[in-house]
Amino acid sequence: MLGGTGDLSMRKLIPALYHSDREGRLAPETRVIAMSRGGLTDADFRGKVDAEVRGQVPVDDPAVWQRFLERLHHVSVDVGGENRSGWSALTRLLAGHEQRDRVFYLASPPRTFGPFCRELQDAGLVTPRSRVVLEKPLGHDLPSAQRINDEVGAIFDERQIFRIDHYLGKETVQNLLVLRFANAFLEPIWNSLWIDHVQITAAETVGTPGRRGYYDHAGALRDMVQNHLLQLLTLTAMEPPARNDREAIRDEKVKVLQALRPISGGEVGRFTVRGQYTAAGDMPGYLDEPASTAPTEASRRVETFTAIRAEVKNWRWAGVPFYLRTGKRMPYRRSEIVVQFKDVPHSIYPGGTPNRLVLRLQPEEGIELHIMAKEPGAGEVSLKPVPLSLSFGKTFTARVPEAYERLLTDVLAGNPTLFMRRDEVEAAWRWIDPILDAWSADPALPEPYPAGTTGPAGAHELLGRSGRAWHEEEL
Ligand code: BG6
Repeated sequence: MLGGTGDLSMRKLIPALYHSDREGRLAPETRVIAMSRGGLTDADFRGKVDAEVRGQVPVDDPAVWQRFLERLHHVSVDVGGENRSGWSALTRLLAGHEQRDRVFYLASPPRTFGPFCRELQDAGLVTPRSRVVLEKPLGHDLPSAQRINDEVGAIFDERQIFRIDHYLGKETVQNLLVLRFANAFLEPIWNSLWIDHVQITAAETVGTPGRRGYYDHAGALRDMVQNHLLQLLTLTAMEPPARNDREAIRDEKVKVLQALRPISGGEVGRFTVRGQYTAAGDMPGYLDEPASTAPTEASRRVETFTAIRAEVKNWRWAGVPFYLRTGKRMPYRRSEIVVQFKDVPHSIYPGGTPNRLVLRLQPEEGIELHIMAKEPGAGEVSLKPVPLSLSFGKTFTARVPEAYERLLTDVLAGNPTLFMRRDEVEAAWRWIDPILDAWSADPALPEPYPAGTTGPAGAHELLGRSGRAWHEEEL
């Protein structure tokens, strides 16, 4: 794991590996080798994991925890640096194990991906059973993504490359596929004849404290939409694949990305909204968040919120808007896909509202179908929307694994279905780039919204123009 002592590793990857170990899914000879510039010994690294990770995971059997700690190693590697001693140390650790699976997990900045793979090859460590996992961001636009893909692709075959999007490991995301393709009743109505529009929201209450260095050059569009939200859109809109296999599913997802109507030039102002949170109550604004550097022009221009009206131009979805929205410092943490059905063709009752299917990824994973029911009582019929509700937490007693746990298990099993293929990532950038270009050519700053609110006025107008509104239930 490059970046093996970093935040992602300590909060997600090491806990996920521990869970796998605890549940018997790691082969006895599995070793976890953290790589960083940190100059730690194995003992230092084990001590760090003991201090920082033990409190995050259930340690019911100290022997299992101890066994896990003993799998951990640390090697100091300076990618692109002069000092090659780390590579010799890694070579010694891996010597004699050429027939085993090797997973190189790059939880490091994308500029290190190409150089790391080259140095790995120079050290003779790439075997036919090696895989490489690439963390986001995969570039900051199409050309940079292509460069990374070329550099990594020069060393590894596409079948060995696992581009991670942790949203694809979330339980509800996979349940969306099961709901759509293992049940007969939805397919006949999953189209523009029955569906009015789709909303995909990833709202977070957190701000960006300490992350300005990254976030100033990312922004919500690159950080959340290019990957997570577009992935949710593809799974919602894709055609039924012929098989549940790695290529069949990804083929269908790519077709959706290729069918996205481009938004460029003058249309960007009409179909996209940018916002940046400002101070409210005890919450600082984006520009006042604690950071190691003072805000710059890039800080003033970066969006912490975005909303977009997208369209999938094909037979199934013609004319159905897909509204995407994501933001920091919103009033709630919630990720969901809302499929809003059309109204009944002819209503004999007053007061009805159209059906709505809500697939919630977080905070509580579940699926709700809002249907109209009659309120009990004599006299006039009075209607009320009520949810038919499936809560995964209440229905299934098994522990729901974290997204990273599932994805790491799939990498170890060599199953790339839930990972992004090169053409997928590039198709997503191809759609995003013209929006980024128009934003950077626009002298206007993002619309301000007070921290703790649902985004700038423009986001509400985006739907309001066609008489629609964001799904804000149960606030
Ligand atoms: C990451 C983004 O990919 O996803 C973060 O870089 C964001 O900015 C995070 O906070 C959200 O993930 P989740 O699983 O908490 O919705």
